[in-house]
Amino acid sequence: MENKVVVIVGATGGIGSALTQKLAPTGAKLVLAGRNTDKLANLAGEDVLAVATDITDPQQVDNLFTQAVDRFGKVDVLINAAGAGVMKQYNKLTPEDLDFMLDVNLKGSFYTTQAAAKAMKENRSGHICNVVGILGKHPMTMASAYCAAKYGVVGFSKCMADELKRYGIKITLFYFGGVDTPFWDNVSLKVDRKKMLSPQTAVDAIWFALNAEPQAIPMEINIQPESHMFL
Ligand SMILES: NC(=O)c1ccc[n+]([C@@H]2O[C@H](COP(=O)([O-])OP(=O)(O)OC[C@H]3O[C@@H](n4cnc5c(N)ncnc54)[C@H](OP(=O)(O)O)[C@@H]3O)[C@@H](O)[C@H]2O)c1
Repeated sequence: MENKVVVIVGATGGIGSALTQKLAPTGAKLVLAGRNTDKLANLAGEDVLAVATDITDPQQVDNLFTQAVDRFGKVDVLINAAGAGVMKQYNKLTPEDLDFMLDVNLKGSFYTTQAAAKAMKENRSGHICNVVGILGKHPMTMASAYCAAKYGVVGFSKCMADELKRYGIKITLFYFGGVDTPFWDNVSLKVDRKKMLSPQTAVDAIWFALNAEPQAIPMEINIQPESHMFL
């Protein structure tokens, strides 16, 4: 990963911060994004650019990629690891809940993927890793708004992968089952976090995709915890 410019959106979260720690000693140039400026400041270091970004605002997303290119000259990798969950019965979901899910999980990822592809096309190379989650391809009770957003991420990612392959830009989709991160702190579901995947497993999968031989396109990686497996 030496000298690769890697933009991690959701760098302040469980998966994103574990990936940041994995990549920091590899010589990669890291561009870290999230809204929490205190957490971003803690992650900043040499060869690290931290940009406070709310991905629901396309102008802030454009600013993130402009700053990344201004500082490091290019973007090689985008990791989309930002998101949030609202889990309620379908008839308890408010219009605000649905907007929240679509704004952060669907539109936010759309904007960052679009902006990354624009920067990557200049070099005719790039890799976009969208951390969708298994609820992007399997339904679950209480997850209708979340699934609506995550199924959408799969839809736009596959369309864009087809459009971008001629520019040497790959898109990998990650379908993790439950990962033990702060994501679950705000989710009103009874879950056993001890039985979830560790963030390290998610990081290992992303690392595999990023380091696959150049002609290989890891299109989809699906890892489920044994205790709660969707087939
Ligand atoms: N944990 C799981 O079980 C699991 C499983 C499969 C897939 N996923 C998906 O994986 C991704 C990362 O999840 P995680 O488990 O690492 O969750 P997490 O620990 O709660 O982290 C969420 C991250 O998203 C960022 N974020 C939220 N809203 C944002 C916004 N509007 N603009 C910019 N950044 C925003 C947060 O940063 P700030 O607060 O600093 O903005 C934080 O860095 C999410 O898309 C999630 O849906 C999670």
